[in-house]
Amino acid sequence: MRRLILGSVFLAGLALLANALVHERIAHAQGATVKNVTSKLLAGKSKADVKKYMKQVAEALGVQCDHCHDTDAMESDVKKEKLIAREMMNMVAELNVHKAIAKKDRVTCMTCHNGKREPK
Ligand code: HEC
Ligand code: HEC
Repeated sequence: MRRLILGSVFLAGLALLANALVHERIAHAQGATVKNVTSKLLAGKSKADVKKYMKQVAEALGVQCDHCHDTDAMESDVKKEKLIAREMMNMVAELNVHKAIAKKDRVTCMTCHNGKREPK
């Protein structure tokens, strides 16, 4: 009995390890690390989360990714729009810093831009 329990614990551990390794391989294959993400809003986030957020940003401004990005090098900061956007992300993070602000009341790009490049 004791051997059986030890055996299962060992197998469970092995399964966990294998799982972790597979996930790491997948993450690596997808290049799932960001290279130049430094705003207060996004620093430390996964590539998947950054991309999800980027879709919201594009929608909030009514633009495509290439409005801010050199699409051959997403990490590049050559476009001034990207630099402005990073400042805006810092601003949004500061505006929402108070923990008492409910999620639904937090300021987003949409709050001011409302689907437009320049707020009216
Ligand atoms: C309004 C400007 C803007 C638009 C539009 C935009 N991005 Fe971004 N993107 C940024 C900024 C700014 C950063 C860096 C954020 C930071 O430093 O926290 C960034 C970072 C990224 C990164 C991380 C790159 C790296 O490795 O450093 C990816 C990936 C990305 N964007 C994808 C997209 C995709 C896909 C779209 C279109 C759906 C998109 N972005 C639209 C401004 C924009
Ligand atoms: C508090 C209001 C406000 C919020 C919130 C806001 N913006 Fe802006 N944004 C502005 C205003 C106003 C301008 C126009 C400034 C000017 O033309 O001098 C602007 C301009 C910009 C521009 C330059 C316009 C262009 O394409 O030439 C970018 C890029 C931008 N915002 C990105 C963002 C992003 C990304 C977010 C969310 C992280 C955001 N903004 C949130 C008010 C806001």
